[in-house]
Amino acid sequence: MLRVIGLEKSFGDSKVLKGVNLEIKEGEITVIVGPSGGGKTTLLRCISGLTKPDKGSIIINNKYLYKDGEGAHRKEKLEIPMDVGLVFQNFNLFPHMNVLENITEAPRVVLGVGIEEAKNKAKEILGFLGLANKENSYPFQLSGGQKQRVAIGRALAMNPKLICFDEPTSALDPSITEEVANLIKKLSIEKGMTVLIITHDMTFATIVADRILSMDNGVLKNEHMYI
Ligand SMILES: Nc1ncnc2c1ncn2[C@@H]1O[C@H](COP(=O)(O)OP(=O)(O)O)[C@@H](O)[C@H]1O
Ligand SMILES: [Mg+2]
Repeated sequence: MLRVIGLEKSFGDSKVLKGVNLEIKEGEITVIVGPSGGGKTTLLRCISGLTKPDKGSIIINNKYLYKDGEGAHRKEKLEIPMDVGLVFQNFNLFPHMNVLENITEAPRVVLGVGIEEAKNKAKEILGFLGLANKENSYPFQLSGGQKQRVAIGRALAMNPKLICFDEPTSALDPSITEEVANLIKKLSIEKGMTVLIITHDMTFATIVADRILSMDNGVLKNEHMYI
């Protein structure tokens, strides 16, 4: 499903990713844990096509997102990563749009889906996420957990195969950690989603993961534990 090979990325003089290798199987929930500043968000942004790596390859569903081989040294994004959805740490909802508009925007603008079709799909997703009564609410009217579910809905609306979460518990009350874990498991079981999560929350990682990897100082340790 996902292969990352020899990924390197520097910002100025500081090397943030130092040759990351990662392989994820379809349907798996993989969690990468590690201290702040270790390069976790940068890795996720590369996989989501938002940050361009300096070296290495990312292959998603047998398609190269980035390829660094045979002297080609192609650094441009090779394909738009429609197969990957990202749920940002602070959710990044559009504040001036209601829930339904937040979810229908990208399918309409990026995929060219018609308004009615986009709305129907969004309503189905909101039902799945337990937010059917919130379609006309604006982000400021929602709790943190609800905003997160809208952010998940926005990712799902693009039909990703892989959904990535950046620190999904960090902006929320610790009392809903288990609820977030259950929702992510439901995504995996009922929607067949492959999931990649980065977090420094070990308790959450242990509840949600099929597999935990650790990352520190730009290196991913692949002597992983299966739970
Ligand atoms: N866009 C950027 N420009 C410059 N430095 C960055 C940028 N993004 C991240 N960094 C630096 O890269 C390092 C790793 O950051 P990050 O990937 O966010 O780690 P983590 O998510 O594990 O906390 C940090 O030292 C951070 O300051
Ligand atoms: Mg981070």
